[in-house]
Amino acid sequence: MGLVAHALERVKPSPTMAITSKARELKAAGYDVIGLGAGEPDFDTPDNIKQAAIEAIKRGETKYTAVDGIPELKRAIVDKFARENGLTYKMSEITVGSGGKQVLYNALLATLNPGDEVIVPSPYWVSYPDIVLLAGANPVIAEAKLKDGFKLSPAALEKAITPRTRWFIFNSPSNPTGATYTREEIEALTDVLLRHEQVWVLSDDIYEHLVYDGFKFSTPAQVEPKLKDRTLTLNGVSKAYAMTGWRIGYAGGPEALIKAIATLQSQSTSNPCSISQWASVEALEGPQDFLTDWVAAFQKRRDLVVSMLNQAKGLSCSTPAGAFYVYPSCQGALGKTTQKGKTIANDEDFATALLEEEGVAVVQGAAFGLSPFFRISYATGIEALEEACRRIQRFCANLS
Ligand SMILES: Cc1ncc(COP(=O)(O)O)c(C=O)c1O
Repeated sequence: MGLVAHALERVKPSPTMAITSKARELKAAGYDVIGLGAGEPDFDTPDNIKQAAIEAIKRGETKYTAVDGIPELKRAIVDKFARENGLTYKMSEITVGSGGKQVLYNALLATLNPGDEVIVPSPYWVSYPDIVLLAGANPVIAEAKLKDGFKLSPAALEKAITPRTRWFIFNSPSNPTGATYTREEIEALTDVLLRHEQVWVLSDDIYEHLVYDGFKFSTPAQVEPKLKDRTLTLNGVSKAYAMTGWRIGYAGGPEALIKAIATLQSQSTSNPCSISQWASVEALEGPQDFLTDWVAAFQKRRDLVVSMLNQAKGLSCSTPAGAFYVYPSCQGALGKTTQKGKTIANDEDFATALLEEEGVAVVQGAAFGLSPFFRISYATGIEALEEACRRIQRFCANLS
């Protein structure tokens, strides 16, 4: 008998790990490596949020709390959904977990049975298919094509739906492409979903606040209220408030699902960190004006990166409206040879050679289910980004 459970055997180790650990190794060996792989803002958590945590500790908010969140945080989340998304949830329709990832994990584990299907548009955030597999169900990958701005077409969604489909996972702005759906584009998808009552919607809105060029964010339950009673609207404080380490995510959805999630959480991690919950109350209820500066900084970085990548031989990169990622194509580099004599057959070869020969760490598109592309996170200082793009240009210019 093997040590590892069959469920775990279905899951691959994170494909982003190989490049990350290689980058770490090279750095430790003294090489000058610029990491563009991280999925977290480089900004610090705002001081008012840190102060709220310090005060919570001083008040003695250091004990177990209600499993799926303190009432004060649930109230702040109810208000946030109403204020920012026009969504009305009761307190009993809100859950709080240790990061958006735990909420997603709980929702899928609490609802999926063997043989069930979950539609995951590709390119996807690496965790979606693996969590579906851990839950014993089958991910059905539906390609969001470059020609459609990496947004899933209604026809592709319709084609992927079967009687076994339980969930459609929707992520806008998207990790890894930054693709962001307009209200009309969401409506075209919700029109399809209205015709298939067995399909629930898991809308991952974690990058909601990181949108550019005046883009107006929308979410499916708001666009199509008839879907609200089969939608889980997922969000968190990690990305918008630079709080990745605090581990607070939350969701609004039908009470029966919220209860099932709480049951699962009660037998695994129990409540998310009490101090982080109080910090998140401040994040959601405190001043939001710092976001304007962060968004302006991200937009400037995005514009720099897109423009410099488009000047690199063999690369082409579109300008996404959200998140802090771009997803350039390296089609033009395939079949070529690097200065050190490595042949580039696919995007993994491209990412590996770029790291080894120029010290720039990016993640190959294969990790996100769509090749030949690579993902760059521009959540890093503008000087480092400029230098990284210069090295990418040099790397591409030297391909023969
Ligand atoms: C698309 C997407 N959803 C959810 C998460 C989870 O974030 P957290 O667990 O920090 O809330 C991430 C983090 O990288 C993400 O990229």
